[in-house]
Amino acid sequence: MSKPMIVPASRQPEAPKRYTVPMPMEGDNGLFTQSWYAVCMSGDVEKGKVIGRNFLDGKVLVYRGEDGVAQVLSAYCPHVGADVSAGWVTENRVVCPFHAWEFGRDGFVCKTGVGDPAPKNTGLFHFPTVERWGIIFAFNGLEPLWQLPDFYDQDGPVAGKRLSDDELIITTERVFSMNTDPWVVCANTLDQNHIITLHHISPEDLPGVERIRWRPHDVTYEFTARHWKNEFVKYSVGIYGTTFFYQSSTFDGRWFGILAPMGMPRPGVTEPYFVLAVKKGDGSEKALKEAKELSEYALDVERRFVWQDYSILTLIKFRQGTLTKSDKPLAKFLDHIRNYPRAHPAADFLR
Ligand code: FES
Ligand SMILES: [Fe+2]
Repeated sequence: MSKPMIVPASRQPEAPKRYTVPMPMEGDNGLFTQSWYAVCMSGDVEKGKVIGRNFLDGKVLVYRGEDGVAQVLSAYCPHVGADVSAGWVTENRVVCPFHAWEFGRDGFVCKTGVGDPAPKNTGLFHFPTVERWGIIFAFNGLEPLWQLPDFYDQDGPVAGKRLSDDELIITTERVFSMNTDPWVVCANTLDQNHIITLHHISPEDLPGVERIRWRPHDVTYEFTARHWKNEFVKYSVGIYGTTFFYQSSTFDGRWFGILAPMGMPRPGVTEPYFVLAVKKGDGSEKALKEAKELSEYALDVERRFVWQDYSILTLIKFRQGTLTKSDKPLAKFLDHIRNYPRAHPAADFLR
């Protein structure tokens, strides 16, 4: 029989340290970080249709008017609470299935089903809504605090050239949900150690805290690295808000961009999406063939990254514990998250 190893009480590790200012999780005190959240894919809502989605601590509807414009509104009717996402769309208005009240894109009721005058100042909560890269986004706030970022070439958002969406071929897909808040997923970008230990990339010049750009609603930096087969890669990475990973990379001289916008169907759950961009080039058959090949290659590489992160993030119980010297960018990012604006203007509408 083998002997058990005994560690005396005097040599036991201390219980895991927790930073004295705990991390505010999404939904704590009824508040959520003010960010652009991915709500669904564009293809989930056809013209003239309405669907329902869980969002923050409640439910929203997403409808697309006959004009093709998508809008996110709170789901529960201000009349007696029916779920309007089970209703229908007429022209550019969404209609409650119970007593046929009609709501405009601003959320206000404009017509009742039996001809009673529409009550004043009554409606569904209107979320600022945009549609881009095949995804419908809603901002948690009355007005967006920041805009969705554009892609830039390899030199990044400060020194680089902006690329318009028209110059790019975009591929978008949904990724598996993870059991953690989106900002925990975002924190990985500032957890520079995991780039080495989990992703097995060899960075050549990771910037310290001073060379990272810290702004109120985004954090960005550049670095170069050797990839799995010693390929030279130039990275420009960043986090926008608390729900949006950005990367542009030049992989052996070929540029591609990656976005991971995130949704939050309820606190503690992240629904990530994956957007890959490659340059169209001159539009010739040769350029399109090269773009397609690069797309497939980049998707394969990035899916492997996502799996590596997924295996950790879906099980993590995140806390700011005992950090070491090279964790400084992560520590600063956690402070950035502590100070990030939080609100829940839709609180009384969503449940
Ligand atoms: S509950 Fe919506 S119209 Fe009555
Ligand atoms: Fe990662």
